[in-house]
Amino acid sequence: MTAYPRLKLENVTKYFGQGAKRIKAVDDVSFTLAENEFVSLVGASGCGKSTILSIIAGLQDCDEGVVLVDGMPIYGPGRDRGVVFQSYSLMPWLTALQNVEFALHAAGIRRKEAREIALEHLKLVKLEKFQDRYPSELSGGMKQRVAIARALSYRPKILLMDEPFGALDALTRSHMHELLTSIWEEHRLSVLFITHDVDEAVFLSDRVMVMSNQPGRIKLTVPITLPRPRTADTMTTDAFRDAHWTVLSAIREESMKIADKEGMAAS
Ligand SMILES: Nc1ncnc2c1ncn2[C@@H]1O[C@H](COP(=O)(O)OP(=O)(O)O)[C@@H](O)[C@H]1O
Ligand SMILES: [Mg+2]
Repeated sequence: MTAYPRLKLENVTKYFGQGAKRIKAVDDVSFTLAENEFVSLVGASGCGKSTILSIIAGLQDCDEGVVLVDGMPIYGPGRDRGVVFQSYSLMPWLTALQNVEFALHAAGIRRKEAREIALEHLKLVKLEKFQDRYPSELSGGMKQRVAIARALSYRPKILLMDEPFGALDALTRSHMHELLTSIWEEHRLSVLFITHDVDEAVFLSDRVMVMSNQPGRIKLTVPITLPRPRTADTMTTDAFRDAHWTVLSAIREESMKIADKEGMAAS
């Protein structure tokens, strides 16, 4: 056991723009993610969710504060963090297998070993039969499974997901929930999951954090104590509805504030 949380954000603040157009996109955000914890981040569009995720991924710097993985500050992207975005971000000229291998080659892993690891991870997302297909020959759900296999292939401790299932239909999405939950349980991953779907957030998470809008802060944290394994029936329980309502009310309150502000600006 380490004394440090897997992931820790301390007073992270991020500005965009210059002069009068300068905005505070993320304001003094602090939270931790424990080993094998699944936490969702929800909030209105533009509240700063993706900015927080890309700071944790090391793709952007923050202006103030620090991001720590196992107690060590991060300096840019690293193999300890895997990222999955909404748009599949696969390379169209590479097959499913080659897309995963490409990431492994980039991480300095030799060809033979990269092939073995890539196949193993395509199996994990149940795509071994589709390894030679190009992205254009795969459904949306399959493409996202390749993206997950790729993110997991270099064995990150933390999986960062930015609305990964936002473009999928409801049935495919629920299959993805099952798959993600089983991988998460097996690999003891810490997951930070961004979504604007409250059902999805409550269903998957140990904890849901609701953000306020501009400047983006963590407004409310709702622990989700629903027993696991969770099934379709979980969604019909009073405990699920209560948690859902708490999260939704907090988001609504924020969107009312935005509407009020816009109303005042227009009058
Ligand atoms: N690269 C950028 N340059 C300027 N403004 C940005 C940039 N990225 C995000 N923003 C602004 O920061 C705020 C938060 O954006 P974002 O993190 O994408 O929100 P969310 O993911 O919650 O929808 C928005 O007002 C957005 O317009
Ligand atoms: Mg976003």
